[in-house]
Amino acid sequence: MSFLDQIDNIKLPQHIAIIMDGNGRWAKQKGKLRVFGHQNGVKAVREALEGCVKANIKFLTLYAFSAENWNRPKLEVMALMELLVTSLKKEIKTFQENGVRLNVIGDISKLPSNAQKKLQETIEATKENTHCTLTLALSYSSRQEIVDAARNLAKQVKEGKLQAEDINDALFSANLYTQNLPDPDLLIRTSGELRISNFLLWQIAYSELCFLDKMWPEFTKEDLFKSIVDYQQRERRFGKTSEQL
Ligand code: IPE
Ligand code: IPE
Ligand code: MG
Repeated sequence: MSFLDQIDNIKLPQHIAIIMDGNGRWAKQKGKLRVFGHQNGVKAVREALEGCVKANIKFLTLYAFSAENWNRPKLEVMALMELLVTSLKKEIKTFQENGVRLNVIGDISKLPSNAQKKLQETIEATKENTHCTLTLALSYSSRQEIVDAARNLAKQVKEGKLQAEDINDALFSANLYTQNLPDPDLLIRTSGELRISNFLLWQIAYSELCFLDKMWPEFTKEDLFKSIVDYQQRERRFGKTSEQL
């Protein structure tokens, strides 16, 4: 039986975020180069996306490349950028067939120009799709995002457009790259690492965390469905007592 059948459609997470980790180690275990792991990671992206579409998840955010990942060997970085472009070319069909709208967060200006162009084209071509919003975090740093928001708010105060006293949670959220996304309900990380690695620090304040031992290239729809079932068995108390819920 599929874990899909165990999902309670009334308690669905609205937004799932995933730290896709373990491509390099997976390849190494097979005696291959790290790039081989990244290539196979693309299949897992398709699994995650199709799983979300099947389970009716409205927002999927994937950590694809961090600001810190620029420090990797140049060849690996180049291979990842190439893979992004070829995958976008290939997957546009999947996006259209499944009603997926593409969105990006991060410092896109750092990406090679062909990648920027392909991203813009794909965002434009899928902007009317409503079934699921796929957000790719690229050249993304959560601390930088928070710094940008603070700077933006400070500028508005300086220009007299905003009172410092009026800055609150909601206004701060509205100044993040994720302004159009709800906070993730569920955050999944593969590869057994137990850390957040500068991903959505503000937004995951009350997310449920799910760490899987599998390496990313092995991630399947069933893993996604199982994580959703796990999530649904948790009690989200938001500071209250169990009795108050
Ligand atoms: C995740 O896999 C993909 C990216 C960070 C781009 P890794 O490349 O981090 O694989 P490991 O963690 O070294 O195994
Ligand atoms: C986090 O993975 C970034 C992405 C998944 C894109 P890393 O593999 O770069 O994380 P650390 O550096 O090991 O924490
Ligand atoms: Mg890693």
